[in-house]
Amino acid sequence: MISDSPLVLAATRRPVPHTPVWFMRQAGRSLPEYRELREGTAMLEACRTPDLVTEITLQPVRRHKVDAAIFFSDIVVPLAAVGVDLDIVPGTGPVVPAPFRTRADLDRLPDLTADAIPDITESVQRLIAELGSTPLIGFAGAPFTLASYLVEGGPSKTHEQTKALMHGDPQLWNDLCERLAQISGAFLRVQVEAGASAIQLFDSWVGALPRADYTAYVQRHSTTALAAVADLGVPRIHFGVGTGELLDLMGAAGADVVGVDYRVSLTDAVARLGDSYAVQGNLDPALLGAPWEVLEARVRAIVDEGRKAPGHIFNLGHGVPPHADPDVLTRIVEVVHEHSAR
Ligand code: CP3
Repeated sequence: MISDSPLVLAATRRPVPHTPVWFMRQAGRSLPEYRELREGTAMLEACRTPDLVTEITLQPVRRHKVDAAIFFSDIVVPLAAVGVDLDIVPGTGPVVPAPFRTRADLDRLPDLTADAIPDITESVQRLIAELGSTPLIGFAGAPFTLASYLVEGGPSKTHEQTKALMHGDPQLWNDLCERLAQISGAFLRVQVEAGASAIQLFDSWVGALPRADYTAYVQRHSTTALAAVADLGVPRIHFGVGTGELLDLMGAAGADVVGVDYRVSLTDAVARLGDSYAVQGNLDPALLGAPWEVLEARVRAIVDEGRKAPGHIFNLGHGVPPHADPDVLTRIVEVVHEHSAR
């Protein structure tokens, strides 16, 4: 039963047979079989093609024996589905040629309904049939991170335009984030209704904000997105990069599990979060290139720290880098399972 899978048990803070492990971006360019399959198909098109989505999602599960599959898609897929003109540029990320800056731009963000994404339902259903007892994690981008791509027009290190809008026109900012929370929540709901066993809300770039701004301008919108699946009974993971100062606020937004990047130890994260949340993380992806002995010792240390948490899902602190050696990931899964076996 999927409800007895190590991932769901850990997420809901129940005893596990071993620490579950999966990797953000486990599907993707680190796998030669992925590069081969993606040859000649644009990213956004691949995300809307059930044959490709199903196969790409399964590749890392077969190869690494991870404890969960993550649905192959992208945080901007639901934005494209409601009609936003955007592209995913290889080596860069999502690019929006006409950035969102004025009230009139809200007209370009209609609500997302399930009938706009029948292929997502089909892909999830096919995956559930193939995955058997391995849970599928659905996901969406959180309103702040989606807003950053829309307002900046592409990836940004400083999020200057986004912060200028947030502080300069809070009403427009809130209206924008309300629309994004609906879209994000609807995307999550479609995946769970089709059979996903858990979800992760990615607020990858929200670590750029101080606590006061997170509380004033962001938290309620992430709460709305997470609340869209609250009645469906699946665990909800809430993740960001550089969000050590926001962990408790991200938990309080409606998460069961809080993602921790490598800047804060799991021990410190638990001290900040208390007993009410499981944690996910937090191996620094850069260490994938370190000598195996060094890496293995770090993996074991993280498993040991995680045992003291109310629940622990092993993961990287951020996504698998494209140049990572996939065999190293497979070995990490083996070590986590062996070292954590109860
Ligand atoms: O295996 C998985 O984790 C599932 C697939 C997944 C992708 N994107 C596939 C993808 C997930 C969960 C995402 C989410 C996503 N997309 C996030 C949140 C996660 C994070 O990393 O913080 C963000 C910020 C994006 C936006 C985005 N899309 C970026 C930054 C990039 C990388 C650009 C690049 O080429 O370096 C993308 C494209 C993307 N999304 C790729 C993949 C496999 C690479 C595209 C390719 O293979 O050509």
